[in-house]
Amino acid sequence: MQISRSFLVIGSLYLLLGILIGMYMGGSGDHSLAPLHAHINLLGFALMTVFGIIYRIIPAMAGTTLAKAHFWLHQIGALILLVMLWLLFSGKITEAAMAPLAPIAELMVLLGTGTFAFNLWKST
Ligand code: HEM
Ligand code: HEM
Repeated sequence: MQISRSFLVIGSLYLLLGILIGMYMGGSGDHSLAPLHAHINLLGFALMTVFGIIYRIIPAMAGTTLAKAHFWLHQIGALILLVMLWLLFSGKITEAAMAPLAPIAELMVLLGTGTFAFNLWKST
């Protein structure tokens, strides 16, 4: 697996989804999914694209166990969190029902970002 390409391609898919939700909000006048839209575009597209570009321009960071750990922690954490946000903001679950899965997903994203930061510090 090429970390850089995987982050970039998956990020572009999140952007497509984020734009579709943005268009739905604009068209329907119902903005209740704005935080979901924001985090699909930012946690999904913007962060993954930045990660993909950094792994591309600093090849020493890619191909390491830290990079793999970062990739999977971010993918799984972000996906769970975004699904939970969709459930919450579409009114299917209450805020109380976000625990314990959402905090675990947040920790995964945080831990992944920690491995990324450590890898960046080590490789530059
Ligand atoms: C064609 C593309 C897009 C459309 C139609 C669209 C539409 C919207 C709409 C209708 C809202 C709700 C505004 C509100 O209720 O206050 C919104 C919020 C937001 N959008 Fe988009 N958007 C698009 C692309 C993007 C992209 C590419 C990003 C980021 C990379 C982005 C980031 C945000 C953020 C952060 C918010 C939340 C703002 C806030 O709540 O303070 N959007 N967008
Ligand atoms: C695990 C990661 C993250 C968590 C748990 C998180 C959590 C939150 C929460 C609870 C809100 C307030 C939502 C509301 O009540 O409207 C928020 C808003 C926001 N966050 Fe995040 N966030 C995360 C990552 C990020 C990242 C990586 C970015 C940008 C690159 C970002 C950008 C924003 C923006 C622009 C808003 C305001 C938009 C809005 O209110 O719709 N967040 N976030």
